[in-house]
Amino acid sequence: MLPDRISSFINEHIETFTAELSQLLEIPSISTLSEHAPDVLRAAEWVFERLKKCGFTGKVYPTERHPIVLARSPEIPGAPVLLVYGHYDVQPPDPLDEWQTPPFSPDIRDGFIYARGASDDKGQFLTYIKAIESVLEVEGKLPINLIILGEGEEEIGSPSLETFLIAHHSELLADAVAISDGSQLAPGIPAITYGLRGLSYLQLDLKGPRFDLHSGMYGGILHNPAQVLADILQKLKNPDGTVAVPGFYDDVLPLEQWEREEMASAPFDIEALKNYVGVSELTGEPGYSVLERNSARPTLDINGLWGGFSGEGAKTIIPAKAGAKVSMRLVPNQVPGKIEELFTRFVTSLCPAGVSLSITGVHHAGPVLVKRNTPSMLAAERAIEAGFGKKPRFKREGGSIPVVNMIEKHLDQKNILLLGWGNPDDGVHSPNERLSLADFRRGILSAAALFYEMAASRR
Ligand code: BES
Ligand code: MN
Ligand code: MN
Repeated sequence: MLPDRISSFINEHIETFTAELSQLLEIPSISTLSEHAPDVLRAAEWVFERLKKCGFTGKVYPTERHPIVLARSPEIPGAPVLLVYGHYDVQPPDPLDEWQTPPFSPDIRDGFIYARGASDDKGQFLTYIKAIESVLEVEGKLPINLIILGEGEEEIGSPSLETFLIAHHSELLADAVAISDGSQLAPGIPAITYGLRGLSYLQLDLKGPRFDLHSGMYGGILHNPAQVLADILQKLKNPDGTVAVPGFYDDVLPLEQWEREEMASAPFDIEALKNYVGVSELTGEPGYSVLERNSARPTLDINGLWGGFSGEGAKTIIPAKAGAKVSMRLVPNQVPGKIEELFTRFVTSLCPAGVSLSITGVHHAGPVLVKRNTPSMLAAERAIEAGFGKKPRFKREGGSIPVVNMIEKHLDQKNILLLGWGNPDDGVHSPNERLSLADFRRGILSAAALFYEMAASRR
């Protein structure tokens, strides 16, 4: 049970906490843009400084790209160990002109804080640090042992993390892992996530003639890379929208009946979703509901494509090059490496002679399904009830968090608590990203409650 004096302290100090969140949100720690590397480092140091002030020991570890923070609370012998993961890197904020206020000048409007990273993941990650500070302020000591793992490369697919986890294996052993980098089921309906989709993200580059050619002089005698690209992309999906890559569905774990029932009865508003995204009609794999399609079924999407002339007016050419970025969201038990091989084999077979094709992997993340009835899961359930005043629902998320699969694999950790404090309409990766300040506060309360629930129930 979370002591009342701690919840009072959190409730009374939420304005100061919000001001500190603003400070972190001001740092434009965009991991994909190398000119922002110093900002990612600043965000890492900001996080580490706070932990140091709480008596944690550890370091900001440099990697080939962006630093990792690993810090540990003063040892309490015999108490459970909770590993908390979060990321302080963010996605690029463009298109800038769609932001009502600039992405790195946090603005508070109608109970929300608006900034890039507000929900994904600075605001959610910070709840744990604020919980730690609050407990220490009120009680002078923590009820459990905490390890904080902060990452600055999540949004670029966590390229350095796997090596880091292997190298620091013994420093990362814990009774459970908590990650808040997702969302509730809907505003006011907290949830624990028990599944995440994996990701295979690939780039296709097609090359035809040595340079752009006059389409009158050369049209009709050679393959046009843009046309070939369109032909290939067209063949990736069947007319019913399913993925046409041979073998793609072979390892897909079917949804269980109870999951289907749970999803069917979830308080999920399709009209609100259509409204939010601004489309009049949804579509997807036949035989599955919207919630099933966006969390428990695999997909293939074109994220972007290019080739030839797209400026004003007309330019009569056969482009020399064309390309596309294609992502596949994967579900248990699909394996990114295997899917990438199947994709590569299929796409290669579709490319005619006279055009050269190269396929490069950009991101890979394994899918996740965690056990639901572990003691740490029950502790998390009680903690959320304490923080949000409501029992959480269980849900699967369509997004990917590469670290989760790595933790399962390399730390042999089964107790993974995915506790999203955000909301599906926070606009993560979109303009005007935001976090509800009520959720920020409830997240801090829940994080603090989790420490106490874990202390009370040894695994
Ligand atoms: N926090 C998200 C993942 C997420 C989004 C989980 C929504 C639950 C709900 C994470 O920061 C993210 O964006 N992941 C990327 C992974 C990729 C860059 C390897 C994703 O899912 O596209
Ligand atoms: Mn995230
Ligand atoms: Mn993200």
